[in-house]
Amino acid sequence: MISVTPSKNSRLNTTDFNNLPFGMVFSDHMLVCKFKNNSWGPVQIMEYGDFSISPAAQVFHYGQSVFEGMKAFKNSSNDILFFRRDENLKRLNQSAKRMAIPEITSEIFYDGLNTLLKLDSEWCKSDPGFSIYIRPFIFASEPCIKASSSNEYTFMIILSPTKTYYSDPIHLIIEQEYSRSASGGVGFAKAAGNYGASFFPTNLAKKKGFTQVIWTDSKNHNLIEESGTMNIWFVIDNVLVTPKLSDTILGGITRDSVILISKDLGLTVQERDITVDEILEASKKGILSEAFGTGTAVSVLPISSITFKEDKVTFSNLETITLKLKDRLLSIQKGIALDSFGWTDKLTIN
Ligand SMILES: Cc1ncc(COP(=O)(O)O)c(C=O)c1O
Repeated sequence: MISVTPSKNSRLNTTDFNNLPFGMVFSDHMLVCKFKNNSWGPVQIMEYGDFSISPAAQVFHYGQSVFEGMKAFKNSSNDILFFRRDENLKRLNQSAKRMAIPEITSEIFYDGLNTLLKLDSEWCKSDPGFSIYIRPFIFASEPCIKASSSNEYTFMIILSPTKTYYSDPIHLIIEQEYSRSASGGVGFAKAAGNYGASFFPTNLAKKKGFTQVIWTDSKNHNLIEESGTMNIWFVIDNVLVTPKLSDTILGGITRDSVILISKDLGLTVQERDITVDEILEASKKGILSEAFGTGTAVSVLPISSITFKEDKVTFSNLETITLKLKDRLLSIQKGIALDSFGWTDKLTIN
């Protein structure tokens, strides 16, 4: 049973939907559910806003926190289409397990999402390019500064309307000093600290004029892993190649979708180790035609250049496999193309 306290002051009419900086605009409501005495308590949906929390809450001191990033779209009949949300629940709970956080039940997750999205459905526009970004997260909320896992947690969901703009070209640099993750660590989880630790090296790269770094293995910095909040792909000799998953790489749901879409389109996909040397070599031979990133926020994003020391590989990004994959993915997500994979989950609004 979900208790709903509707907002009395909707911000819908004062929100400029033509100007939505990513991750900075939030819908009218949020979901909150607390874990205490070994179980998740009642689910509450209330007006989006600040809340109070103890300064001793363990999340501030030991970083026990995980999150998800997922999207829903509105089709032309005004229904909300969740995209592969079962995969987000699975990954949220994998991340939670690794961070010693109690798993969320599917009932709380699905019923919570349905109720929240019904209430805030107007925040998801059906016009081309619009979607609603959904951010579920769990953090340790017990007021206790002993270095141990918490006995209390808070699960929340907030919603942020988004519009995909034509994005600026992205220029990446292959990281040679810092690491995002190491074997045996938490790289495969959406643990908050993974992101916090990535900002310093990313800011160094930005100061040099790059958009993001490409993470490499922590031992030799020669195996390509991923970039920012994207999995990475290359087209070598007309074959799509992406690093095979390991405990140092986040298994993207967009990555998995692009693998399946590519195979369906008759393209060859290889999930395998890719070294920096191989990329440079393929570029010199003229067989490296495209590179792109995949992720919920960016969808399928062409990469304009990759720099490694003195070498710079550039891509023209015209009429590419990348754009074909992006179109196919978006049209499934929006309910325009037939969803033969059964990825969309419809919530009827009217
Ligand atoms: C580190 C990292 N890699 C890859 C991805 C792409 O994952 P997904 O396609 O599920 O959004 C994300 C975004 O969630 C990420 O944070």
